[in-house]
Order: sequence, then structure tokens, then C-alpha cells
Amino acid sequence: VADYPKTASDQRIRAEALLHITEAIFLACTMRAADSALLAESLVHADLRGVHSHGTIRIPDYVHKLHAGGVDPQGTPFVVSRKSAAIVVDGGNSMGQIGGALAMKEAIAAARNHGLALAALRGSNHCGALDWFTLQAAEQGMIGITGSNALPTMAPMGGVEKIIGMNPLSIALPAGKEPPLVMDLAFGMTAHGKIRVYHQNGQPIPEGWASTAEGEPTTDAAEALGGFILPAGGHKGIALAMMIGALSTLLSGAAYGTALGNMVDGPKPGLDGQFFLAIDIEAFRPLAAFGADLDAVIAEIHASKPRIPGVPLLVAGDMERQIEAEYRQNGIRLSAATVDDIISTARKLDVTINADLLTL
Ligand SMILES: NC(=O)c1ccc[n+]([C@@H]2O[C@H](COP(=O)([O-])OP(=O)(O)OC[C@H]3O[C@@H](n4cnc5c(N)ncnc54)[C@H](O)[C@@H]3O)[C@@H](O)[C@H]2O)c1
Repeated sequence: VADYPKTASDQRIRAEALLHITEAIFLACTMRAADSALLAESLVHADLRGVHSHGTIRIPDYVHKLHAGGVDPQGTPFVVSRKSAAIVVDGGNSMGQIGGALAMKEAIAAARNHGLALAALRGSNHCGALDWFTLQAAEQGMIGITGSNALPTMAPMGGVEKIIGMNPLSIALPAGKEPPLVMDLAFGMTAHGKIRVYHQNGQPIPEGWASTAEGEPTTDAAEALGGFILPAGGHKGIALAMMIGALSTLLSGAAYGTALGNMVDGPKPGLDGQFFLAIDIEAFRPLAAFGADLDAVIAEIHASKPRIPGVPLLVAGDMERQIEAEYRQNGIRLSAATVDDIISTARKLDVTINADLLTL
């Protein structure tokens, strides 16, 4: 979040207006109405929480893929098999959000019967920010755990080949009086897109983000783009990324690692994979008791002594929630470039732009 500094040209857009135009853009790409609404909801959710890397900034890319046949706008996800609480879903080359929404819905429904359930998704594509899925489980009084495969951007420890993705993981736990405790992160020190921004600006990247193609540390953005992103937490990040990648793909038979494609040529259509685990807390103990205990865990952090007096201590999800509250009141802050891209994409598709998109 700290990587998206405020600039004078930023614009404020009401969430409803952004949702409306995003949905209309995907409808104009011949997606079904319900799917357009889901995809728009996922992107605007990310923007609302300040995770702009996975918000409406993606519209031009997604539209390009939907038109170029990389993703089937009419792709229809379906359940391939169900064995007790083990479910395999095929996304039918739809956007990852569409197949993922079905997979999470199936996992939640099966967890009601079995206590917990896992849906493994194949035939998928990019799925956006993962907390959009895990929070759906938390809203149902369940723990949601979702992992995704991602294009390889990292090398194994000591290696010089780009064969491991940052493979993100989100976990959401429903609390009692507190909002859900929700973590959502990938296991690289930064995102490839963030390095591209530094490169465009001719700025050096922070130390510790990336290495050259020879595996030497670098702050040169061009060298970093030709090299590797460094794992978060050294060997721990590499081990976690590998595990999340394997869980996201091998259970459903999706493509793991380089079989998915690469950062230069892009992903191959419909080969991506994700997993969606729902754990019904009531199957273990009363939800209210779990929630009260989790409230205490969260309160302990919030009440803990900060190193710098007056600087509040946060738990996962706090920062995003604070941003969302401010954005809901004052409008979502988007860069002028993102707004321009949305408007020009809409115009190309003959989508009417409501005046209120531009007036807040
Ligand atoms: N679909 C994909 O292929 C894909 C690939 C990579 C990343 N992503 C998404 O990118 C987004 C951003 O990932 P990222 O790795 O840049 O995230 P990040 O490094 O910004 O970390 C964000 C997480 O850290 C938590 N956090 C921040 N400050 C904290 C604090 N002081 N104490 C405790 N927790 C704190 C946040 O609440 C959040 O859960 C995520 O939504 C992820 O799902 C998706």
C-alpha cells in the first residue's frame, strides 16, 4: 500500500460509479451480466482496500485478453468431480474470479456438511486479489484459505533461472465484535509491475527487492526486470511460494510454474490454478466462542506498546479497512493514468460514461 504514493493529479471516484463503468466494460466484452458484475466487484474491492495493483488498473489488460481469446468471455466454470469434501472445478478458461467464485461457493457449501472442504480450480486465469474470496468464507462464519499460482518471477535459492512464482496466499478468520482478521500477500519482495513503474520513471528500486540475471543484488530497475524478484524472508519465501504453487495447481491438474508461461510472453490461456479451502468453525466449537477468543488476540496486538509512542499497532487487514472507510466516504483515489485508461477503454467499446464518474 505504501508503494502507491499520493500525487497531485490523483482523482477521486465514487465506488458505485467505478463499479458501474467496470461492469459495463466487461458486458461490452460479451461477458454475461452476472459474470461482469462479479469481475467488477473483485476489481473495485481491491481498489477500495488500497490494493490498486489488483484493481481497475487491470481493466485494459483484462479487456485485451478477453478480445484476443486469451480468456473466454463466455467461459463457464463447472464442477468436474466431488468426492466427499474434495471438489475439482474447471474454470472453462473464464477469468479466475469467475471460476474462483464458483469454487469458493462450492467449498463453503460442502464445508457445511463435512466441517471443511477444499475446491481445486483448473482451467483458470488471473484471479485478482485473493482476500475477495477468503472474506466470502469469513462472512459465512468460516475460515477461508485461498492460494494461487502466479507467473514465475523468482529463482530458487542459489539459482539463476526464473522458475518460481510469488504464488500468493490469503487467510481470513471471522472474529466476534472485531472485523475478520484477513491476510493477503504474495511471497516476493515486490511485484513485477512496481519495478516497471520505477523503470518508467528512471528511478532506482529499493535495495533488497531484486537481483540481476546473474543473481547479484541490484537497485537498477532495468537490470531487475531482466533478473529476478527476491523472495520475502529469503529461503522461507521460496519454500512457501513453492508450496502454495503446488497446492494451487497439482490437485486440479493446472499448469505449475514455467508450464503456465512467463513474464515476457505472458500466461497461456486457461492453464492457471487456485485452491479454495473453507473450514466451518461450528464443526469444531461454537462460532461465538471462537470469535470472542480471536477478538482477544486482536485486542492484545492493538493494546501492545508501540516502539514510537502514538503510532497504532496493526493486525493483518487493519490498513486495508482504514483505507476502505476513507474511500467509501471521500471516493476511491485513483491515479490519473488509471482513470484515463478506464475512460479510453470504455470509449473504444462504446460504453456510455456517466458524468458522475468524472465529477467526484
Ligand atoms: N492473483 C494473482 O496471481 C496474484 C499474484 C500476486 C499477488 N496478488 C495479490 O496482490 C495483492 C498484494 O500482495 P502483496 O504481496 O503486495 O501484499 P503486501 O506485501 O502489501 O502485504 C499485504 C498484507 O500485509 C498485511 N499487513 C500490512 N501491514 C501489516 C502490519 N503492520 N501488521 C500485520 N499485517 C500487515 C496487510 O493487511 C495485508 O494482508 C494481494 O491482494 C494478493 O492476493 C495476486
